[in-house]
Amino acid sequence: MTYSRIVGTGRYLPEKVLTNFDLEKMVDTTDEWIRTRTGVERRHVVSPEQTTSDMCCEAAKIAMDDAGVKPEDIDLVITGTTSPDVVFPNVSTIIQHRLGIPACTAFSLEAACTGFIYALTTADKFIKAGEAECALVMGAECITKLIDWDDRNTCVLFGDGAGAAIVKPSDEPGIISCALGADGQHRELLHYPAGVSKNLAAAGTEDANIIMKGNEVFKVAVKTLGAIAEEALDKAGVSKEELDWLVPHQANIRIIQAMAKRLNMPMEKVILTVQDHGNTSAASVPMALDVGRRDGRVKEGQLILMEAFGGGFTWGSVLMRM
Ligand code: UT7
Repeated sequence: MTYSRIVGTGRYLPEKVLTNFDLEKMVDTTDEWIRTRTGVERRHVVSPEQTTSDMCCEAAKIAMDDAGVKPEDIDLVITGTTSPDVVFPNVSTIIQHRLGIPACTAFSLEAACTGFIYALTTADKFIKAGEAECALVMGAECITKLIDWDDRNTCVLFGDGAGAAIVKPSDEPGIISCALGADGQHRELLHYPAGVSKNLAAAGTEDANIIMKGNEVFKVAVKTLGAIAEEALDKAGVSKEELDWLVPHQANIRIIQAMAKRLNMPMEKVILTVQDHGNTSAASVPMALDVGRRDGRVKEGQLILMEAFGGGFTWGSVLMRM
């Protein structure tokens, strides 16, 4: 049986860093509140002219270099994002062309913070079906362009960035199991209320911003993430005790701590980037994986659980050997 396996990773963070102290000057908040309630200390913010494809191209070049693959080797490009450059062409085709990747299957998918988990799961299916030999899979967001900078409930949480992974067929796992889910019944708890076929005039203006009932999202996130993590482990017949690393979506340190507790994992076995990156939505999991690999903590052969939860709601987890 063919498995798929991540053979290279990369990340890109915009140059500009916004600290909690900077935010103290913008809204009625404090560094202390943000750190204790969310774990965030700083976040990166794109410049007005910078786009999601700009960040993806940088992250992808690093991942390709890491994997030792050239543009002509890639035959599948998938990007998880809710903040693409334009409505169409889809952002993966923009990245494919800019990187000199020959014509191939290229699409983006929209699953909010779960975007990378959905993209990686999709790439895994393509590879297992024999439909792709080398996939470039990304999670990326210019999410700060969707924020009301006067709303302290949301503006302190988010940051921008892009994470990329090269995924190839392998005789050994690799990706062991994936579990995805979605339910639109609570859509009003976390949404961006403008787009192409609804409120088009408001999209990108001050009249449309991310709206979140944080407290209620928090409760559903903790409950759902616990269940989805266990689903991926059960599918694979793997016990919590075997896990080497948890690479979670970085929405809030308190959600991550609750997840680690449920999995009986000490925080030393969790890759944490929330303090430096904030919540970068679809980019948070691939960037955290890259941080863990590059600083030498995440090693080849180790067992890793990645998980995410976001607007929709959507959720998902991937269990894999590095
Ligand atoms: O990534 C996608 C999924 N998203 C998430 O998973 C996010 C989940 N939610 C959260 O992470 C947390 O709910 C937040 C960090 C968003 C909020 O933390 P909380 O502990 O749930 O706070 P809260 O919303 O219950 O607000 C508590 C108080 C309120 O004041 P009152 O009503 O008690 O007087 C807020 O107005 O904190 C106030 N508050 C702030 N104070 C200072 C809200 N934002 C701020 C702020 N600075 N930035």
